[in-house]
Amino acid sequence: MRLFKLLIFLAHWGVTRAEPGKFWHISDLHLDPDYKVSEDPLQVCPSAGSQPVPNAGPWGDYLCDSPWVLINSSIYAMKEIEPKPDFILWTGDDTPHVPNERLGEAAVLAIVDRLTRLIREVFPGAFYAEKLPGLSGAGRVVVLNTNLYYGNNEQTAGMADPARQFQWLEDVLTNASRAKEMVYIIGHVPPGFFEKTRNKAWFREGFNEEYLKVVRKHHHVIAGQFFGHHHTDSFRMFYDDTGAPISVMFLTPGVTPWKTTLPGVVNGANNPGIRVFEYDRATLSLQDMVTYFVNLSQANEKGIPLWELEYRLTEAYGVPDAGSRSMHAALGRIASDPGTLQRYYVYNSVSYDREACDPACSAEHVCAMREVAFDAYAACLRAPGAAPAPRLALLLAALLGLRALLAP
Ligand SMILES: *[C@@H]1O[C@H](CO)[C@@H](O)[C@H](O)[C@H]1NC(C)=O
Ligand SMILES: *[C@@H]1O[C@H](CO)[C@@H](O)[C@H](O)[C@H]1NC(C)=O
Ligand SMILES: *[C@@H]1O[C@H](CO)[C@@H](O)[C@H](O)[C@H]1NC(C)=O
Repeated sequence: MRLFKLLIFLAHWGVTRAEPGKFWHISDLHLDPDYKVSEDPLQVCPSAGSQPVPNAGPWGDYLCDSPWVLINSSIYAMKEIEPKPDFILWTGDDTPHVPNERLGEAAVLAIVDRLTRLIREVFPGAFYAEKLPGLSGAGRVVVLNTNLYYGNNEQTAGMADPARQFQWLEDVLTNASRAKEMVYIIGHVPPGFFEKTRNKAWFREGFNEEYLKVVRKHHHVIAGQFFGHHHTDSFRMFYDDTGAPISVMFLTPGVTPWKTTLPGVVNGANNPGIRVFEYDRATLSLQDMVTYFVNLSQANEKGIPLWELEYRLTEAYGVPDAGSRSMHAALGRIASDPGTLQRYYVYNSVSYDREACDPACSAEHVCAMREVAFDAYAACLRAPGAAPAPRLALLLAALLGLRALLAP
């Protein structure tokens, strides 16, 4: 059983200040309650499965899910860095990567409860809700239950719109548009079916077509999309039929450093990361995104975890804000400038993997960010240097291809 509990904590709501509003986005805490610093490499953490974990340190290990002290440290770091966010998006995945048999419902609920209590203790005054009543009149946060799109969910595999959630989303967005509200869409698993590639770009199956339709139709009211699940730091661009950027999905890194055991992935661990968004309270437009991290091996060497700034989006990519046009420009730089690509690649694993991102790696990442639909992604992988494919051009190309085939 996987339970992607999503919570939004509201804090200090209704305060009107001239400076930008701020909110935290954290995800994939994955507590391993049985983590312990053991001399026996096979006794360190159940989340490492049968892999030995030599020299485990007090703050965690790249082969394991988070020990309690690491999670505690991340929540206190949030308090230290930005104690007065307007709200906290916590997009779930709280439990350790262990076989289902080892984790019953009671254990799952106990973990969620423990984490919830920690956040409320560190951010007193904060109350939590699954849905926002309304963001100062400017908009709202829409929470998707994305258990439905989890690759291992056999009950929904192959369904176009499980539980008719996209139809519901369509209604919510139509209503928002009528009410002139803006919306943030949040969830755990990006809606679709994904697999990590060798170079840690997630894409093989692609986004759910119904979701893409809804986003393309209602992008005017969508001020941001915030998801987790991949544990790595990236973003996804959404374009309209003419190839103009219309929306961005931000994928937040995990707090857990756990090295994925997905087959084929090379060195898929990460440093623990947390992030703050800065936004305009009146329009919900995103002004910046700031990611903080702890260098886990250094924390274990020094005996204390030092949470530090990893990067500020506008500085890292030389863009004015975190809106769709800016992110399109950022992607253009990542695709064309090797220095920027390498920077992106290091941030992708939260400064854990600093190997060079070779051309195959570059193509996987750039195409995953640029093309959210499976066919376009596959075409991009074949010609990674090309600009984002406007959908009309793709159609035309397909027709021309057909004509070429039919021509005698
Ligand atoms: C949690 O972190 C705070 C702040 O660093 C510290 O005072 C407290 O002892 C920690 N608690 C646990 C259980 O690690
Ligand atoms: C959309 O608005 C209508 C009319 O106010 C309401 O009946 C309906 O429940 C709303 N739909 C959703 C999904 O919020
Ligand atoms: C993290 O710490 C390790 C060990 O001290 C060090 O070798 C590495 O360069 C550090 N990584 C970053 C991104 O600073």
